[in-house]
Amino acid sequence: MDNRLIIFDTTLRDGEQSPGASMTKDEKIRIARQLERLRVDVIEAGFAASSPGDFDAIRAIAETVKGSTVCSLARVSEKDIRAAGEAIRPAARGRIHTFIATSPIHMEKKLRMNPDQVVEAAVNGVRMALQYTDDVEFSAEDAIRSEMDFLVRVFGEVIKAGAKTINVPDTVGYSVPGVIGDWFRQLISKTPGADRVVWSAHCHNDLGMAVANSLSAVLNGARQVECTINGLGERAGNASLEEIVMAVKVRQDVFGCDTNIDTGQIVATSRLVSQITGYPVQPNKAVVGANAFAHESGIHQDGVLKHRETYEIMRAQDVGWSANKISLGKLSGRNAFKQRLVDLGIEFDSEQELNEAFSRFKDLADRKSEIFDEDLQALVSGDSVEQGQERYRFLSLSQRSETGERPQARVVFSVQGQEVAAEAQGNGPVDATVNAIESRVSSGSELLLFSVNAITTGTQSQGEVTMRLSKAGRIVNGVGADPDIVVASAKAYLNALNKLESRAEKLNPQLV
Ligand code: KIV
Ligand code: ZN
Repeated sequence: MDNRLIIFDTTLRDGEQSPGASMTKDEKIRIARQLERLRVDVIEAGFAASSPGDFDAIRAIAETVKGSTVCSLARVSEKDIRAAGEAIRPAARGRIHTFIATSPIHMEKKLRMNPDQVVEAAVNGVRMALQYTDDVEFSAEDAIRSEMDFLVRVFGEVIKAGAKTINVPDTVGYSVPGVIGDWFRQLISKTPGADRVVWSAHCHNDLGMAVANSLSAVLNGARQVECTINGLGERAGNASLEEIVMAVKVRQDVFGCDTNIDTGQIVATSRLVSQITGYPVQPNKAVVGANAFAHESGIHQDGVLKHRETYEIMRAQDVGWSANKISLGKLSGRNAFKQRLVDLGIEFDSEQELNEAFSRFKDLADRKSEIFDEDLQALVSGDSVEQGQERYRFLSLSQRSETGERPQARVVFSVQGQEVAAEAQGNGPVDATVNAIESRVSSGSELLLFSVNAITTGTQSQGEVTMRLSKAGRIVNGVGADPDIVVASAKAYLNALNKLESRAEKLNPQLV
């Protein structure tokens, strides 16, 4: 059996289906470039038929990315497959991933189709997709709750029609490792033509077993896993790329296969996705959490100092933690700043954008003596709303709080270039700040989530704030970073308001 495990990243498609994680075209391109640097084999860039915005983003990624296969999702309908085919046309290597549900509950209640109709639609879908590319993947949505004999029949037929990859999604995160492993073994032994295709696992995390289930599939013959950075995704998320990649690398003795991933890019990719989507990474998250390599207990520290491998199974620098070093300082010039951003995979479309970012860097360097790579990434992620669509801009803030008194904030910001100042009180300084902004904006939005994260270590660190707002069925995550967490909160709130206003944002693609 082939010992290469194909890494299919769906952060830009399934990951984007997390509440508020929808991204603009520019943001998707930035993540796609970083995924290419990470050397993922396949980037699922979106669902072309879901919106014109998603179509454009996939097309732009297909034009930009040359090192990874660029893929679009499509239902088995002609309209979806045409959109997917057109969107991936410029790609050096393009794939169409077409799917239809196969479980009794989905066929009967959602599709209202009988099994024969589903088989026919699946085969037609694969044939149509082959008119655009010879790299066609077929997924049986809700495969894990489907009947084994029916799956064998559908998969046998789509393999005959020319599908090259067969994906077995655990759409609702229902399986457990022993069971899914057995399913892969049975499917591969029973399906006619099974040896001509790559078998793929796509696991959701509803019971917290997405990674374990994916790995069990690998042990039983899967040679592609579909996963996302930081495990982002619909509901409880998808299997996390970094955990799967490091598991097969560290335990080659168990899995007997390896990936093409440049693991040194893992932390940078995790941070970029977190900053753009507004989903912080929990500190105790495996591989990419801030504590993943921190040794707190005296016994552990002593052991690691004497011999690292007493308590560490992988090296922090192997997954890119060495990037957490002083990067630039107050005296660094524009060229050094630009070069460091290029090294981090960040490029600007115009000199004006670079100059604006440099002036923000100088401002930060005045207030924070050590600037880390993470600070630079946060500094530029504020540009997440596409140019010309930024209605609100933070200018300055002053706030007063004293024990026993109600906190007061004064925020100065611009609304379409017009400076406005607003003052308000609140339960705390952040509440007062949001009240002040709302006293001028009256957005009518509801705050769903407020979270603060330290970007680097120590009290000198910048605080990174996420504010999730909802309005008229639309959910967005605003992000702001600053050494002053109240300022970071104001920036995050204004960023979320900009996203609510921005037409570049789109609704969750699964709602189409
Ligand atoms: O979870 C799922 O079933 C999917 C398919 C569209 C592959 O995301
Ligand atoms: Zn999925």
